[in-house]
Amino acid sequence: MGSKQKLLPRERLPRHVAIIMDGNGRWARRRGMPRQMGHQRGAKVFREISLYCADRGLQVLTVYAFSTENWSRPQKEIDTIMDLLRDYLRDALTIFRDKNVRVHFLGDVSVLAKDIQDMIRETEESMHVHDGMILNIAINYGARAEIVRGVQQIAWDVKSGKLPLDAINADLLSQKLYTAGQPDPDLIIRPSGELRLSNFLLWQSAYSELWFSDVLWPDFKVADLEQAFWDYDRRNRRFGGV
Ligand code: FPP
Repeated sequence: MGSKQKLLPRERLPRHVAIIMDGNGRWARRRGMPRQMGHQRGAKVFREISLYCADRGLQVLTVYAFSTENWSRPQKEIDTIMDLLRDYLRDALTIFRDKNVRVHFLGDVSVLAKDIQDMIRETEESMHVHDGMILNIAINYGARAEIVRGVQQIAWDVKSGKLPLDAINADLLSQKLYTAGQPDPDLIIRPSGELRLSNFLLWQSAYSELWFSDVLWPDFKVADLEQAFWDYDRRNRRFGGV
């Protein structure tokens, strides 16, 4: 980051920032490289940005790493992303040892390889006591599936007589999502020029501010993030009021 960029005061930062890490494939293709190289570079940027956010004092950072639709990609590309996830999980405890970060996974991880599931469980358990930034990593995540899962849990509780019908409200459904107990995202960032949410945090984003950029994720810098923070600070959030 240029040393001249002034930082938004910490108390004005968004509490929860969510990022769709998009553009890895295009970044690689433009350089005549295989798409996997874009993911490798994207993973490096993810490490830098997540560490920076922890130091900057964010409460929650959520990243979209793999969607329920991404299984349709070539197997080689899927394998690369899963290997990058393995590398990350192997390093996570060391990376965040002094940062007090708590890693949490959003999505159905039960279909991932057994060794990855084991590492996810160990990481979540050993970081459970940390009370610094929550780092949500969305893997095999889709917002519609997340909402359906929450509705099923509620329906089950009603059916079994544990929950009266009139106790169902928005807060209750929020508590059935992977992000239960966390503030909704204040700011959602999508690089790479695409202007859509792509089944990401659909329930939680009801009042999120959106920030788009043409920069591809592997080129995304701390300075871009700080730019997003300043733009966020200028928004007038009314939450439906006047
Ligand atoms: C979207 O770019 C990116 C993904 C589907 C994968 C994101 C993964 C990483 C950043 C690295 C992995 C990190 C972890 C921790 C698993 P795209 O491939 O859709 O890009 P394109 O739109 O240019 O094709």
